[in-house]
Amino acid sequence: MPERDDRADPLLGQVLDGRYRVEALVGAGGMGVVYRAVQLSVDRPVAVKVLHPDASSDPEVVRRFEEEARVVSRLRHPNTVTLIDFGRTASGRLYLVCELMRGAPLDDVLAQGPLSPQRTASLVRQVAQALAEAHTMGVVHRDLKPSNLFVEQVDTQEVVKLLDFGIAKLADGGVQTASGRIFGTPLYMSPEQAEGLAVDARSDLYSLGVVAFECLAGRPPFTGSTAYSILMKHVHDDVPSLPMGEPALDALVRQLLEKAPADRPADAREVARRALAVEHGSAASGPTLSPPRVVEPVEALGSTATWGPAGPAPVVAAPRRARWPIAVVLAGLGGLALWALAPGAPTAPAGSAATAAADAAPSRTPASPTPRRTLARSTQRP
Ligand SMILES: Nc1ncnc2c1ncn2[C@@H]1O[C@H](COP(=O)(O)OP(=O)(O)OP(=O)(O)O)[C@@H](O)[C@H]1O
Ligand SMILES: [Mg+2]
Repeated sequence: MPERDDRADPLLGQVLDGRYRVEALVGAGGMGVVYRAVQLSVDRPVAVKVLHPDASSDPEVVRRFEEEARVVSRLRHPNTVTLIDFGRTASGRLYLVCELMRGAPLDDVLAQGPLSPQRTASLVRQVAQALAEAHTMGVVHRDLKPSNLFVEQVDTQEVVKLLDFGIAKLADGGVQTASGRIFGTPLYMSPEQAEGLAVDARSDLYSLGVVAFECLAGRPPFTGSTAYSILMKHVHDDVPSLPMGEPALDALVRQLLEKAPADRPADAREVARRALAVEHGSAASGPTLSPPRVVEPVEALGSTATWGPAGPAPVVAAPRRARWPIAVVLAGLGGLALWALAPGAPTAPAGSAATAAADAAPSRTPASPTPRRTLARSTQRP
């Protein structure tokens, strides 16, 4: 994102807590304003997110947020943007310090068009791996969406990093701005979030399903002219068809988008495993802008103790493309034989029974106007 210069901003040039010199405005979102800064002790660039004053005013909400931030700062997964520190500005606003990301937020990437099934599967796997660590530590993201995912090219590999863990907890506490608005975007909210019900790790899986759907179809599954209409679609409407792609990936996305949390994949580890299987299975078909990062599942999905410092996970196996044509022919012949013997045998995982017919029909319905950022409480809760 291009940096903007705004000399009128009193935070520019300030040194926060004697440690972080604020240098330039990077961007603004629903919860606050992001700056490029320098961590003076080690002279390294960092990102400082200064939250809006109303997100820093209720002491109880702030206390719960600080508790969460301590846990979030222990997340070590290479697909999670590291939270380095947090504190208060001189005027009392909460600020968070994290890695300064290079690359581009996923919403900018998607503005150039949909992603291939391979890139989508890789993205889903990487985000699911990050979620697996956080969920194991009891942290739910609550605001998983393209602007909170950064896509970075590391050597020949595309690395996706998840930002802003735990920040939505402030909005969760009912923070309102002077204009009576709360934060969040309806496009990526789970049905249970839309209905104001209790939210757990499975809500993040739903939001990941929305992101994956958008990667494949070029638009989110549910759009509308008002926040309320979008939320109601999450609760009541069937998921639209996906363009023809990888059936196993389509089935995974559709299961992530199940209305009832219990019908979604059991956990983020299962999602990562299934996405990895798609990466292996689809490595020979279709163009890919960067080769999939193939990580041994046990290592990729292991306990948090196995994670080292931030950085891409080691590549332990490369897709063996040369053998694929033979394997595909053999698999095809085997499949035909099996089909002849047992034509009614189910091939898709539970929760995806409707996908086969639906996925066959490509859908390119243009998106309706889509409120992406703030959401008026009055429209969210009629
Ligand atoms: N750690 C970071 N490194 C580099 N750029 C960042 C970083 N965090 C955020 N940004 C940039 O700043 C912009 C604003 O981020 P911010 O998180 O405030 O907005 P958002 O993600 O759209 O909304 P939300 O407040 O709901 O997370 C982002 O779109 C992104 O481009
Ligand atoms: Mg963000």
